[in-house]
Amino acid sequence: MSQYHIKNLEEYFQVYRKSVREPEAFWGEIAEEHFQWKKPWEKVLDWDFTKPEVQWFQGAKLNITENCIDRHLHTRADKTAILFEPNNPDEAAQPITYRQLHERVCQFANVLKEKGISKGDRVCIYLPMIPELAISVLACARIGAIHSVVFAGFSATALATRVNDASCKMMITSDGSYRGAKTIDLKGIVDEALESCSCVENVLVAKRINSDIYMKKGRDYWLQPLLDAAHKNCTPEVMDAEDPLFILYTSGSTGQPKGMVHSTGGYMVYSAYTFKNIFQYQENDVYWCTADIGWITGHSYIVYGPLANGATTVMFEGVPTYPDWGRFWQIVEKHKINQFYTAPTAIRALAKENLSHVEKYDLSSLKVLGTVGEPINEEAWHWYNDNIGKKNSPIVDTWWQTETGGIMISPIPFATPTIPTFATLPLPGIQPCLMNEQGTELDGNPAHGRLCIKFPWPSMARTIWGNHRRYKDTYFTAFENKYFTGDGALRDQTGYYRITGRVDDVIIVSGHNLGTAPIEDAINEHPAVAESAVVGFPHDIKGNALYGYVILKETGEGRDHDNLRSEINQLITERIGPIAKLNKIQFTSGLPKTRSGKIMRRILRKIACDEGDNLGDISTLLNPEIVEQIKKEVV
Ligand code: WTA
Repeated sequence: MSQYHIKNLEEYFQVYRKSVREPEAFWGEIAEEHFQWKKPWEKVLDWDFTKPEVQWFQGAKLNITENCIDRHLHTRADKTAILFEPNNPDEAAQPITYRQLHERVCQFANVLKEKGISKGDRVCIYLPMIPELAISVLACARIGAIHSVVFAGFSATALATRVNDASCKMMITSDGSYRGAKTIDLKGIVDEALESCSCVENVLVAKRINSDIYMKKGRDYWLQPLLDAAHKNCTPEVMDAEDPLFILYTSGSTGQPKGMVHSTGGYMVYSAYTFKNIFQYQENDVYWCTADIGWITGHSYIVYGPLANGATTVMFEGVPTYPDWGRFWQIVEKHKINQFYTAPTAIRALAKENLSHVEKYDLSSLKVLGTVGEPINEEAWHWYNDNIGKKNSPIVDTWWQTETGGIMISPIPFATPTIPTFATLPLPGIQPCLMNEQGTELDGNPAHGRLCIKFPWPSMARTIWGNHRRYKDTYFTAFENKYFTGDGALRDQTGYYRITGRVDDVIIVSGHNLGTAPIEDAINEHPAVAESAVVGFPHDIKGNALYGYVILKETGEGRDHDNLRSEINQLITERIGPIAKLNKIQFTSGLPKTRSGKIMRRILRKIACDEGDNLGDISTLLNPEIVEQIKKEVV
């Protein structure tokens, strides 16, 4: 039996049992046998969820880039590590071998050092999906700088908030980016953001679209000349297993995004372990995850997990719709993709288009299909299974979170029988449970409750940057001694888990987590707006879309509603980004509130979902009369 690579269901159960009975022995053996450490640990695990404090591989020393790059140079130097597929299919794909990756990461790391970055400094990376993104992430890790990648679809305001929160010393960006037929002025967004960020000393700019941009003297530098002049070797910094590797922001129920802090050793072990098992990666496979590295999926399953296994990982710059709806499948055929990992929202959008876009291409290389980011509905699952996998490639519906660092509940292909909409079973080392609202664990099956995790796993986030208190309050307070995920879940007779969705004020739109609070803050900035409330409602392609209830000030009354709607969406785009725009905006004279003044979102959600006839008892509201009125005005 191999603990590292599970090949069938019996092995899974054996390995799972060991991981629960002897977690330290289990993870200790995996860490020792499959990774390179400069110094072994003194203790595998130390934990206390009441503080909360978790340490894995205490006292061990390592550098993650040695594990992701250097150690492969003996056997895989000429193997493609990163295969870059540009936005425009007429531009040649760019394979980067492990040898070249080593050289480019070392050069980049030397540039960072030369510009004053050292261990522990925070570096913000705001780049499109071009090789420099993966390389700069690894370059930070090489010298122990903490990377904070911000998805390049975020607005200047959202970028500035994140840069300031982590006091980033450096910004890495590009002149612009390609997105289908459009170009985006990334450097312009960075310039605007940096007007309110005094912490950033230097900006390194990669050239991608050759646009004419402003370069601030003494602050901004073109990247390429610096790289060309840099040494091709860079000694990796010796890191403690618990040193932070990166910060990645995720939305929360309140306005300020949460900078989740991930560790070096535990994160490496878990992202690599799960990559191997969930995708059943074999030495000559070509693996493609369509996510952006700006999200956790890209961190763990485009960069670190695949590279730690010596895999070939595809990085795609473009979008599924350009030049046409066949682009994904054209890439699958072109690079003979073996494992394909995407989001349900993409599958739903692709499924709406003519099947000829799929049928044109040879997809026979595919072995495993994956989904992530939101629940997959049954129809989309079948479309994926029938038309992409041809009923021959198991679908891994992988449940996890920015906070968990790696996949937590998922089938292991060729081992776990799949059922549409079920993420199925916990991976080795993961101990989920369901809780009722009173805080009692629900034993027995079936059960439906709030999904918690009872025991630490190596890649869990260790804190929220600069706010450990919030980390504790958000994840470890609702249920004693347990990590609370914020999701609801169902466990069926056989113990399979199905994620039923968020139970807090986070809404997942096209796979992106959006907190309602920051969106409401943006709406309320409009001079004509007095108050607002945002809820989600079901949407065919996006999974959920956003519905805003807006109360106008007296000065706003009489103004054209359509104009106001576009101004509000413009504000949201500026403050957060286009992903947070509202699909529907209803102007109303009041919002249902409890006697303590809290907006009753449950009621607003039902009205937005067209379930307004089934509201239950509303008599305890401060203003029950408003409900009928809101129902009448629905848009
Ligand atoms: C949701 C993405 C159902 C869930 C890796 C979670 C899912 C949130 C699934 C985290 C899935 C993710 N089925 N729901 N397979 N995967 N989710 O932080 O609500 O962007 O809490 O991490 O996405 O989103 P995040």
